[in-house]
Amino acid sequence: MEKKVTEVLNKKIIKPPPIWFMRQAGRYLPEYRKLRKSCSNFLDFCYSPELAIKATLQPMKRYDLDAAILFSDILIIPDALGQKVWFKEGEGPILDPIKSHSDLKILSSNCFRERIDPILRTVSGVKKELPKNKAFIGFCGAPWTVAVYMVEGKGKTDCSRILKWASKDPESFAKLIGIVTDNSIRYLLHQIRCGVDVIQIFDSWSGLLNAEQFQQWVILPTKKIIAEIRKKYTNFPFIGFPRLAGPNVLDYIIETKVTGVSIDDTVSLHWAAKVLQTKSVIQGNLSNKLLLEGGQPMKIAANNILNNLHNGPFIFNLGHGVLPGTPVKNVEKLIEYIKNWKGYYS
Ligand code: CP3
Repeated sequence: MEKKVTEVLNKKIIKPPPIWFMRQAGRYLPEYRKLRKSCSNFLDFCYSPELAIKATLQPMKRYDLDAAILFSDILIIPDALGQKVWFKEGEGPILDPIKSHSDLKILSSNCFRERIDPILRTVSGVKKELPKNKAFIGFCGAPWTVAVYMVEGKGKTDCSRILKWASKDPESFAKLIGIVTDNSIRYLLHQIRCGVDVIQIFDSWSGLLNAEQFQQWVILPTKKIIAEIRKKYTNFPFIGFPRLAGPNVLDYIIETKVTGVSIDDTVSLHWAAKVLQTKSVIQGNLSNKLLLEGGQPMKIAANNILNNLHNGPFIFNLGHGVLPGTPVKNVEKLIEYIKNWKGYYS
């Protein structure tokens, strides 16, 4: 049976476009908050196939979405490599930081396969239950973004330590990026073997870098991941999400050979349609704050996105993940609006 998201990634133009949301599962859903209570530690939740399968499928049961995204986290990779990772309520992730070259020795891939096993059981379980016309999206964090958490030790950061390391000692920093890249390749190959149809690579911190750094730490590792995986799975579809990368998005598309690019809500729709969409499938980019607010401003913005991007291959999404506190009603209204969109605003 056809999956609209994979059809669009094969360059088919579908009107109205398929739709899914980053963080479509999670705290804004009452059924997620209830399920989440069964496990105090968030990583244990991710490592429990029974809970993670349910969390993945919750938004699919509630709404008419075209894709499910694996319920997990980008920080599984450092955790599976032996770095200490935990989540503090209200603060987000905390890691025992890798401050420099000499700390790299704490990372080991010896137990990696074993550590990721429950995630792969989640992938297989979701695959069995997901309707055949829905795409299943696997993911990883891009090496640069994962390295930001590994080196800074937290999400709320000015990134001064990682930027200093990358510029003062690029050879040893490249070792860290290499470790994350190689293990991300292993991880994604397993996800694909277990049944995901598409991979999204989240590079939430890519906007921090100048063009040269972007080339070295974002484009090259992402290009390697995609090329290595396509040696085994020819033309496998990838969506890249180089958040806040501005004009660097164009080079990112051309060099990494992503199939699609997920654009954040700072990207100009005109530029996306005229320049980016001739080279790539576009996904995006409604502001998650407008989804939180809802009402007429949300519909006007959604209509504007559709008017600009519906003439090329396009997947409707947000510019970043659904925010906790987003009313479920707004999500329902947005999906209904997109599914009924006929090319005009009334
Ligand atoms: O999109 C989905 O619905 C799939 C699941 C998913 C999660 N995290 C679940 C999650 C995905 C794809 C991610 C990716 C992720 N994780 C990113 C990249 C995308 C982005 O948001 O920029 C990043 C940077 C992380 C790291 C991370 N995980 C942070 C910064 C936080 C704390 C912020 C927060 O919302 O609490 C997490 C925790 C996290 N990951 C939660 C969920 C549902 C909340 C934890 C909880 O329920 O207690």
